[in-house]
Amino acid sequence: MAATKRILITRRLPDAVMARARATYDVLHDADDRQLGRDELVAACREVDGALICIRDKFDATVVDALPQRFGIVSTFSVGTDHIDLAAARERGLRVGCAPNGVTIATAEIAMLLILGAARRAGEGERMMRDASWTGWEPLQLVGCRLDGKRLGIVGMGKIGKALAQRARGFDMELHYYNRRPLPAEEAMGATYHASLESLLAVSDVLSLNAPSTPQTRGMLDAAALARLPRGAIVVNTARGDLVVDEDLIVALRSGQVGYAGLDVYAGEPNLDPRYRDLPNTFLLPHLGSAAIEARNQMGFEALDNIDAFFAGRELPFPVV
Ligand code: DGY
Repeated sequence: MAATKRILITRRLPDAVMARARATYDVLHDADDRQLGRDELVAACREVDGALICIRDKFDATVVDALPQRFGIVSTFSVGTDHIDLAAARERGLRVGCAPNGVTIATAEIAMLLILGAARRAGEGERMMRDASWTGWEPLQLVGCRLDGKRLGIVGMGKIGKALAQRARGFDMELHYYNRRPLPAEEAMGATYHASLESLLAVSDVLSLNAPSTPQTRGMLDAAALARLPRGAIVVNTARGDLVVDEDLIVALRSGQVGYAGLDVYAGEPNLDPRYRDLPNTFLLPHLGSAAIEARNQMGFEALDNIDAFFAGRELPFPVV
């Protein structure tokens, strides 16, 4: 019988995921569940055959280059892979897998929550209740806007974008999307395709970013892009913070060109640009997109499916490299 493989799990994952991992592998895991620094990550990787990592584990070229010969796979508990140097992994012959499906519905729900929270000024209302400044109902207190009939522009009509479209349809929003390719009609849910970002921006009363962070998408929402939105538009981001040029979005929020921003992700997390906190027209969440137990279980199982397949000599079910 083959010897039990040893894997690193960098952070404590849901019980069902840890139990499944421990039933199959000798699991190396920090008992205190600390976020490992770069040197600690490298040291831990030197003791294992593979690793299940999370988005805060920066698997850059220096980490990949320091991996021991026996280390064959890294599988990430995320759909995003921007924390992994994929070119370095490819060169080293390292297999990389991800967890592409578990996040879908949970992240679309958070996008919907941000849209609602921005449109109906939920954060301002919540703060008012907590700091006891509410003096009673008033005709013009925290008046936002309804969603029905508003045009929702979805940047990236992948799994999450489609799940958001499905939910937004229930709110009677008019759907538009920008994607590399138009979707087949049966998948598009009646959404209008835009062949360019510029064209989508011009019709987006609400804009939702649902594209991965890549060299092509980073910084895509800059001053020029924001200026194309209808004045007072809502901008929502559940994808990655670096799709947005923070300086430009803050200027647009101050001027009213963007009426409200609902943000779940930030460049340089957890150190978001502090000016977002001071703006009244932001609704801010701490990267909660996939934070639903159903999602986190499925993400863990998908990440483990990659590791199981690798050690069984099969193709990864969710390969990246
Ligand atoms: C992902 O899967 O990339 C998410 O950002 C984690 O919640």
